Amino acid sequence: MRAKLIDGKRIAADIRADVAKDASALAAEGVTPGLGVVLVGGDPASQVYVRMKTRACEEAGIATRDIKPDADITQEDLLSIVDELNADPDTHGILVQLPLPKHLNEREVTERILPEKDVDGFHPVNQGRMAQGDRDAFRPATPAGVQELIKRTGVDTTGKHVVIVGRSNIVGMPMSTILLQKEPGANATVTVAHSRTKDLASITLQGEILIVAVGVPEMVKGDMVREGAVVIDVGVNRVDDPSTERGYRLVGDVEFEAAAERADWITPVPGGVGPMTIAMLLSNTVRAARRTLEGAPAGAA
Ligand code: GUN
Repeated sequence: MRAKLIDGKRIAADIRADVAKDASALAAEGVTPGLGVVLVGGDPASQVYVRMKTRACEEAGIATRDIKPDADITQEDLLSIVDELNADPDTHGILVQLPLPKHLNEREVTERILPEKDVDGFHPVNQGRMAQGDRDAFRPATPAGVQELIKRTGVDTTGKHVVIVGRSNIVGMPMSTILLQKEPGANATVTVAHSRTKDLASITLQGEILIVAVGVPEMVKGDMVREGAVVIDVGVNRVDDPSTERGYRLVGDVEFEAAAERADWITPVPGGVGPMTIAMLLSNTVRAARRTLEGAPAGAA
């Protein structure tokens, strides 16, 4: 393998250790950072993610308030839960795990969370402020984590052509906004490709940095990767594998082995972007708690 591995697990552990120090300093000042976690229904993947997030909070000294309504909760009742967390002074951040069951309106729920408690960075106020260059706006954890991973390779993003495959509200779209910012770890020239892009390979081959977030197992083949690229694989997909004890294995959106023969840097799956998502969420939560001490005006994000 030619590429060097970007060790998200180790980098995330370093960030979590820093977060734990910050949380403990805050606790000494009388504020225990608190995260409200809402998981609607029993989607197995969401249950795993939420368990990982709450466990990481405990380790970092962040208190969690877990609320797990049944899948058939009404929109009104879910909004009431958000209202209650908004009003709770011990809850500094709120996370409503997505996706929600189909009958619920995700946008309305996201917009109900106070921007200053929106540690997921999904509220349009935070997205808008981020797009306009406000460094204090909360940023979605996954793209913020990807930026951190790229920074730690030492590869300068300034003026580089970054190709993002995927335009989701959670990853691709905010990723493009972040990498366009006038700041270290950004200042890039960004192309966003998606399911309607024609001749995808001709685009991905231009990426000095290639970020893939589509949720399709190994969709980006090795020969679609530019020589010397930094490859960030956001996908985590289960594929059947009877040879394993669990009957499946996890693969990314990039054909790892072949891509690693062409890239200079690559993230593994698992152990790449995934752990960073959790670390950045914790970091945002401690920031939200810190701001309550600094007396940020209501509505400031
Ligand atoms: N579902 C997938 N990723 C995320 C995330 O970062 N936050 C929330 N709330 N839901 C998700």
